Amino acid sequence: MPLTYPRRIDLACTPTPLQPLNRASQRWGGGHRLWVKRDDLTGSTLSGNKVRKLEFIAAHAQDNGYDTLITCGGLQSNHCRATALVGAQLGLKVHLILRGEEPEHSDGNYLLDQLAGATISCYPPRQYFRELQDVFAHWQDHYAQRGSKALAIPTGGSDGIGAWGYIAACEELNADFDASGIPRAHLVTASGSGGTQAGLTLGAALHSLPATVWGVNVCDDERYFIDKVHADAMDWQQRYSDAPAVDIVPRVLDGYVGEGYGIASPEVFALIRELSQLEGIVLDPVYTGKAFLGMTQEIARGRFDGCEDIVFMHTGGIFGVFPQAEGFNC
Ligand SMILES: Cc1ncc(COP(=O)(O)O)c(C=O)c1O
Repeated sequence: MPLTYPRRIDLACTPTPLQPLNRASQRWGGGHRLWVKRDDLTGSTLSGNKVRKLEFIAAHAQDNGYDTLITCGGLQSNHCRATALVGAQLGLKVHLILRGEEPEHSDGNYLLDQLAGATISCYPPRQYFRELQDVFAHWQDHYAQRGSKALAIPTGGSDGIGAWGYIAACEELNADFDASGIPRAHLVTASGSGGTQAGLTLGAALHSLPATVWGVNVCDDERYFIDKVHADAMDWQQRYSDAPAVDIVPRVLDGYVGEGYGIASPEVFALIRELSQLEGIVLDPVYTGKAFLGMTQEIARGRFDGCEDIVFMHTGGIFGVFPQAEGFNC
């Protein structure tokens, strides 16, 4: 049965290239062919994975009479930056609920949030975690009282609506695999709020993509992400009643969070530097650096034995490099 997509707004520069990583394959491949899907090239300021989800979320907002987008994340959230810029592009107001004390200096994504004209409210982490739902409700009510309608977008744009972004990306990957002679592959992505992994896992099943999808969690643990991917898939199924029923098996490569979300080890920084020099591809310390490290370590452990091709989903995050410049000892 053909899949009926909801409306989307064309915001991302897609299809993104699938490129071979020849020198990285020699360095870390252990006999596998490594590839990178360049979703860091979905735009300049809209770079990364979030814009694929926002194509569907922003269309949902327009189609349902919302004039304001409220969303949340860390101070350096890529998702918040992308939402701020999409809102500016479409003439929607954007209000960001950010976790952390208001910084003295603007840098990275936080700077771009401001340039895009988003309204920003910062909350200390304890209050943020304890009261997030109340904070969303407070600001939705605030806008309602002023005659506006505000859409609450969850962390990372990860829900049943955002899932369409990577369901659609699996159609692109099918064409990439055909063009590059990839019969089947392991597909590795960073997982922060689970939506990219949920979309890819659903999309692989729906589009018969010959790929096993793995999320490398950059926070929380395996149990959390298995449940989160199931929850996003369930939300997708419930929102779109004509969507086909699919059974999914979320797969998580746990063990690469290190000291915590946003804290990268010297090994991660060294790997980012080495890949930059080997392939001209820059990862970030919060998401893709940890995920790539996880992939190389799992290769060394034999996790992917028996399958020649491994595709790394480069989900972007370049603006997260600059606020952590000291980690590179440059
Ligand atoms: C650069 C980057 N990569 C990966 C992720 C993880 O994606 P998801 O939140 O869909 O799990 C995020 C956001 O959380 C991100 O900003």
